[in-house]
Amino acid sequence: MRRRGGDYRWPARRKFPNALWLSLCGFVILLFVLVLRRVNHRPTSRSVYTKRSPTHERFTDGLNITDEMLSPDSLTRQLNDQISLAKGFLVIAKESNNLQFAWELSAQIRNSQILVSNAALRRTLLTISESGTAVRDMALMLFQAQQLHYDSAAMIMRLKAKIQGFEQQMSSTNEKSSKYGQIVAEEVPKSLFCLGVRLTGEWFRNAYLQRKLKENRQTALKLNDNSLYHFCVFSNNILATSVVVNSTSLNSKNPEEIFLHLVTDEVNYEAMKAWFTMNTFGGVTVNVQKIEDFSWLNASYIPVLKQLQDSETQRYYFSDSGGDNRTPIKFRNPKYLSMLNRLRFYIPEVFPSLKKVETCMETFHRYQKYLNYSHPLIREHFDPAFEPFIDPHLIEKGAVLHFNGNSNPWLKIRMEKYKLLWDRYVDYSHPLMLQCNVR
Ligand SMILES: *[C@@H]1O[C@H](CO)[C@@H](O)[C@H](O)[C@H]1NC(C)=O
Ligand SMILES: *[C@@H]1O[C@H](CO)[C@@H](O)[C@H](O)[C@H]1NC(C)=O
Ligand SMILES: *[C@@H]1O[C@H](CO)[C@@H](O)[C@H](O)[C@H]1NC(C)=O
Ligand SMILES: *[C@@H]1O[C@H](CO)[C@@H](O)[C@H](O)[C@H]1NC(C)=O
Repeated sequence: MRRRGGDYRWPARRKFPNALWLSLCGFVILLFVLVLRRVNHRPTSRSVYTKRSPTHERFTDGLNITDEMLSPDSLTRQLNDQISLAKGFLVIAKESNNLQFAWELSAQIRNSQILVSNAALRRTLLTISESGTAVRDMALMLFQAQQLHYDSAAMIMRLKAKIQGFEQQMSSTNEKSSKYGQIVAEEVPKSLFCLGVRLTGEWFRNAYLQRKLKENRQTALKLNDNSLYHFCVFSNNILATSVVVNSTSLNSKNPEEIFLHLVTDEVNYEAMKAWFTMNTFGGVTVNVQKIEDFSWLNASYIPVLKQLQDSETQRYYFSDSGGDNRTPIKFRNPKYLSMLNRLRFYIPEVFPSLKKVETCMETFHRYQKYLNYSHPLIREHFDPAFEPFIDPHLIEKGAVLHFNGNSNPWLKIRMEKYKLLWDRYVDYSHPLMLQCNVR
């Protein structure tokens, strides 16, 4: 129709006066409306329902929807009520795996919806002759549903219980996975253990290394030199310490003015000495100490140590069973009570002749215990963002890059995308790294 109208257009415009053109247009529109009406009157034409939304908003002029829905004998209301009920039963039928019944129900729902929307479109009431069958068929289905003991209220309760079950399952899974994550995170990976063992062996085997360290007078001279920049690293992780030393050296203007005091434990002492003697780091001076050599560090002096020596505490932190299961594993892990983690609070005692010492914090979240994060100044400078998506520019600009917990780059569960930042400072081609499969 439209096309024909369009065809008329050009010659009409040129040849006929405006009045004639307008009446032609009017005629075309009239024809169009007539055709539409005819289409609407075809009662079961699906395409019409899909094209025009079958909502009840179309009861506008002739019908008052409120009146209709409150009327005791309105067929539209009856059909609507049946549809609502049937939808509930449909869910139950599917849930009970009665797919045949579900299919029949949904066919019936569709049938009734078509009738309702049909009436809505033509804005007249439904007649008993057109909808009687549908009302009866649906009533039969609903009766069958009741025979099957379908009960919406009971079903809602059942679904609710199910959801609660899922929620419980999820929270227990989360708890478990966080526990496993913690365990994986705490465990020293095999490769790092291997590195420690090999380096220790190397230290005892290699007299040259021992001599080199002993004969290095520079270190002894600089140890208490207050004109240098002194940093302390408390760690039992050789790889991490190496990265800290290497990146500090590579990113400083004058590495010669930097003195790094490494404090480790008995187990890693020789390995650390071996590594930092066999490698040079662009002029920075490195000195390795072990915590066991600090005679001042005794129970009468340090309350934490006293606590660690207490048998009750030891049982709580070091035995793998017993205790309150609800305590987060983190707080049951000896690592969190390790003296290496505490030492930074005793820096003046560790380095009595140094007036001022910077620390490289190993566990950032410990700040939270000691700093007031509601204070705007502290938040501005210390807010540790435990965030997996960090703007790369922010990382490039940062003075210190802190990896933590499960994201630590030496772990299997690390975040791969940040590992490159770390890899820059690791010599993976070193024979010992290769032998131990450090990656
Ligand atoms: C529909 O009927 C109700 C109750 O009879 C009335 O309050 C309402 O104003 C009517 N609505 C329209 C749009 O006529
Ligand atoms: C513990 O350390 C303090 C302070 O350094 C010292 O005075 C004391 O003698 C030490 N006690 C023991 C038992 O070593
Ligand atoms: C932390 O800082 C806020 C804001 O400065 C202050 O109101 C609050 O008292 C502080 N809390 C503690 C425990 O110091
Ligand atoms: C330190 O980093 C540099 C630069 O990436 C690297 O070439 C070197 O092997 C690293 N040294 C050690 C001992 O890891």
